[in-house]
Amino acid sequence: MGKEVLIALQRLGVETIAVDRYDNAPGQQVAHHARTITMSDPTALRALIEAERPDLVVPEIEAIATPELQALEAEGRVRVIPTARAARLTMDREGIRRLAAETLGLPTSPYQFCDTLAELQAAIDGGIGYPCIVKPVMSSSGKGQSKIDGPADVQKAWDYAMAGGRVSHGRVIVEGFIDFDYEITLLTVRALDTHGSVQTHFCAPIGHVQVSGDYVESWQPHPMSPAAQAEAQRIAKAVTDDLGGQGLFGVELFVKGDRVWFSEVSPRPHDTGMVTMITQWQNEFELHARAILGLPVSTALKSPGASAVIYGGVDATGVVFDGVEAALAVPNSEVRLFGKPESFVKRRMGVALVHDADVEVARSQAKLAASLVKPRVR
Ligand SMILES: Nc1ncnc2c1ncn2[C@@H]1O[C@H](COP(=O)(O)OP(=O)(O)OP(=O)(O)O)[C@@H](O)[C@H]1O
Ligand SMILES: [Mg+2]
Repeated sequence: MGKEVLIALQRLGVETIAVDRYDNAPGQQVAHHARTITMSDPTALRALIEAERPDLVVPEIEAIATPELQALEAEGRVRVIPTARAARLTMDREGIRRLAAETLGLPTSPYQFCDTLAELQAAIDGGIGYPCIVKPVMSSSGKGQSKIDGPADVQKAWDYAMAGGRVSHGRVIVEGFIDFDYEITLLTVRALDTHGSVQTHFCAPIGHVQVSGDYVESWQPHPMSPAAQAEAQRIAKAVTDDLGGQGLFGVELFVKGDRVWFSEVSPRPHDTGMVTMITQWQNEFELHARAILGLPVSTALKSPGASAVIYGGVDATGVVFDGVEAALAVPNSEVRLFGKPESFVKRRMGVALVHDADVEVARSQAKLAASLVKPRVR
């Protein structure tokens, strides 16, 4: 996704430096300059920013030393997208959940933060109840996340969360399970109008399916009742108004009838939003680039469509892909292979995209196209 943001910025004449934690990352393959550092290390991050003196820092992942970004922003050394505070609050589940539920009063699942197995059990017994979901506060793509159906699952969920968090400080969120009808990502753009003031734009709702907390397919538009759509936009506006700055946000929401719950938000393009590479005139990466640069945006839909993830399927460096010709023979399809230098069985290596007037046709064709691409050890 960073690679696509870089491409969008470059098309508008921006000089780019791709920073990643490993060499030859997808973004580094297309940027003007490539740097490899440990982005969670505040000293390394500051040294890089002071050496490069970029006009903008565009965080593309959560695991960055965001307090250092806040310090650099406060010193006037750099502008962080959308703001350093937004990057810090969304870095872990606690900052953003407390902001949404406690400060902004938005509807969320019932939740509690716990540091020990005993606290987790007490939170469940004290009102969260079963079923519930446990997640490390610092994790993404479903890592360390599991559902608890009854008392017998608690220990297992705790152990799994401890093994799956990004940093092992052992804090989890336990959330009451929301029995939603469907979930959406509402891509929300804060961009300048011709008078220089920020306006909020919404993309058409994106429906998606998650397996073990990881996105496997998405489509756009997802039908919603007018009341649910209005509530989704109200929630998205409230949270993005508070986070502020300019750029695109991915607001994740659960919907049951006309009821909507806030789940989480990314202050940057969202994985489920990759579908916009085939459904919108300006995809989410282009919208982010335009919004950042203070340029006009349009969230207009071009065609309904769908995306489906292509997984690595093998643990190997330097994979090749069989079946691309078959995937591209699927009508109205496109494939994006990200160029990640190392494949893991469950690593996202690419995505298949299909547009069709019928979103259900697009979904099944995107899944078909994705299934035809087979990474293999060279
Ligand atoms: N309280 C809940 N009730 C029901 N389902 C939930 C709940 N919390 C999470 N889920 C399911 O798990 C998915 C992943 O949860 P969440 O977005 O919090 O994790 P994540 O690790 O940040 O995932 P990602 O990085 O892919 O967004 C959700 O999209 C939803 O399908
Ligand atoms: Mg999520």
